[in-house]
Amino acid sequence: MIDLRSDTLTKPTDAMRRAMAFAPVGDDVYSEDPTVLELQERVAGLLGHEAGLFVPSGVMGNQICIKVHTQPGNEVICDDEAHIFHYETAAPSVLSGVQLVPVPSNRGLMHPDMLAQAVRPDIYYNARTALYCAENSHNRHGGASVSLEGLKHVTSHARGLGLGVHLDGARLFNVTATEGVAPAEYGKLFDTVSLCLSKGLGAPVGSVIVGSRDHIEAARHYRKMFGGGMRQVGILAAAGLYALEHQYERLLEDSANATLFAQLLHDIEGIDVEPTDTNIVVFRTDHTIPYEEFESSCAGEGLRFALIKPGYARAVMYLGISRDDVIRASEIIYSVVRRVRRDVEVTP
Ligand SMILES: Cc1ncc(COP(=O)(O)O)c(C=O)c1O
Repeated sequence: MIDLRSDTLTKPTDAMRRAMAFAPVGDDVYSEDPTVLELQERVAGLLGHEAGLFVPSGVMGNQICIKVHTQPGNEVICDDEAHIFHYETAAPSVLSGVQLVPVPSNRGLMHPDMLAQAVRPDIYYNARTALYCAENSHNRHGGASVSLEGLKHVTSHARGLGLGVHLDGARLFNVTATEGVAPAEYGKLFDTVSLCLSKGLGAPVGSVIVGSRDHIEAARHYRKMFGGGMRQVGILAAAGLYALEHQYERLLEDSANATLFAQLLHDIEGIDVEPTDTNIVVFRTDHTIPYEEFESSCAGEGLRFALIKPGYARAVMYLGISRDDVIRASEIIYSVVRRVRRDVEVTP
């Protein structure tokens, strides 16, 4: 089976498992786990921040940061395809008592005027707008790299409007490895960043949030409140350190595989592919191809991908998916399209 549903399917390698098994550990709720401390310092340094905090998941990372930046009754601006808006179980409303304000963007980059229009005027009957959240790379926009210059512009605008700025950087390293840019270039634009170790980087568990010492002290309090305080968790942090050391550069291969896959799909009539910058390819079948039949036939032939919105499929490249798998995946799609396409002659 070639399973392209998500880069979260990556499994730890033998070498990573060995690094985990022999990691020095301590009680991290007392901040005494040396491996966790090393990971936090390492990620904070890479992203140009003072301090970091290891958390169990990307969702918890984002939600802790939202909590740090807001008070109940505040509003948080994000783009209308953001992960925090679509896939985090309305957690901002439950855990922080805030309302998300989704605003359209251009592949994840919000126009500063649209941002400004979404900020409530300071009148007693309005909510107070407290935070702007960006996402990079952008999941539902097909792994789009949101431009550094664009983000500089919109974050400085947000700060000028008195907002905090947070980055859901679950896959930021897919962007920086592909562009050959230092992660701190993006990191320093934001007050807080949440970065996942358990996606393309290939660790089995974990995210790190970074920010100022004060933000991270507040984050530590909320991590405990949300049940994310963990004990001898250096075993997991060791996987993250191993991934940073040995599996960062290879993120570039995932981008190359995604580009190849998009090119191969582009040549198949009946399939429309969106632009791709990193390791995600979003594509859809046109009106001549019934999506459900297409998807189940592909699965029957050994290819899986995820449905991200009606008619739109997402294929994600990661450690363990080779160039040959990509070519085979496109062949499966080509043969399924030939079989299930309606009302038109398919030319070979
Ligand atoms: C952009 C983005 N942010 C956050 C998350 C949440 O990560 P986790 O599944 O570790 O909670 C994901 C997961 O796919 C994601 O794609």
